[in-house]
Amino acid sequence: MSDILKTTLGPLVLKNPVMVASGTFGYGLEYSDIMDISAIGGISVKGISLSPRPGNPPPRMCETPSGMLNSIGLANVGFDVFVTEMMPKLRAAGATVIANAYGTSASDFAELCRKFDDVEGIAAIEVNISCPNVKSGGIHFGVSGKPAAEVTAAVRQATRLPVMVKLSPEARDLKEVARAVEEAGADSVSLINTFRGMSIDVNTRRPRLGVGFGGLSGPAIRPLAVRMVYDVAQVVRIPIVGMGGITCLRDALEFFLAGASAVQVGTANFSNPTVAVEIINDLREYCTNRNIRPADLVGKVEMG
Ligand code: FUM
Repeated sequence: MSDILKTTLGPLVLKNPVMVASGTFGYGLEYSDIMDISAIGGISVKGISLSPRPGNPPPRMCETPSGMLNSIGLANVGFDVFVTEMMPKLRAAGATVIANAYGTSASDFAELCRKFDDVEGIAAIEVNISCPNVKSGGIHFGVSGKPAAEVTAAVRQATRLPVMVKLSPEARDLKEVARAVEEAGADSVSLINTFRGMSIDVNTRRPRLGVGFGGLSGPAIRPLAVRMVYDVAQVVRIPIVGMGGITCLRDALEFFLAGASAVQVGTANFSNPTVAVEIINDLREYCTNRNIRPADLVGKVEMG
């Protein structure tokens, strides 16, 4: 890997710093007919649990101004189907797979991540303590430092894989949570997951999502996400993966300058599935023209 875009996130080495965000790119395979999925820095697959989950009742997504709401409820095929049916194809496609892991207790997370440890081709685990659409687990662990650290420590003990912890913008004190997971052994943090939102159909007077509420993502949240990446960069030493409404190179550059060492593209995948690869190509050209690497941009915002 001699490419100018090669990126190191602690023990995780990526061919480039542009990934796709969990829940916005399926298991990656859905796109392998229309693009080379191995070109993506990392595919954070849909959150996986020990057992399959049906998810929340529909409708589970709706469009909002400059964004969207989702209340999928971590519907997924479960660990066994993912590993036996999808991982062989992802390996054959040369994809860099980040396993987004969901559990309802620290021991549940540990059991799942111990199992991931034995799966060939998993590059890292992204610990999901930030999904706002589930009754237990998810955001319930991510709102404060203590439960976030308990889950992180349990995962850390269970796996030798790089551990990235995905943080919620709804944490009572995001900096405290970021510091807590760093101390508990996280190799990196990714942020931000979605904000809880609501949209109401004024004709029916009913919420537009089946469960009433959902997570807001897309360009509407980008300035909030950039600010949160900046804040967290002031208090942790581990690398940050920034996300929130990235649609193009310019958006990604904002996150690098704020302090992110890598980025994830999320909601934009729904309108343009090849957007991550386009950003990678644009980033390569940008860096080549200036004879810099993405790492040279990290945290280089000039304040005041
Ligand atoms: O509802 C969902 O499946 C969302 C997951 C997440 O935000 O992590």
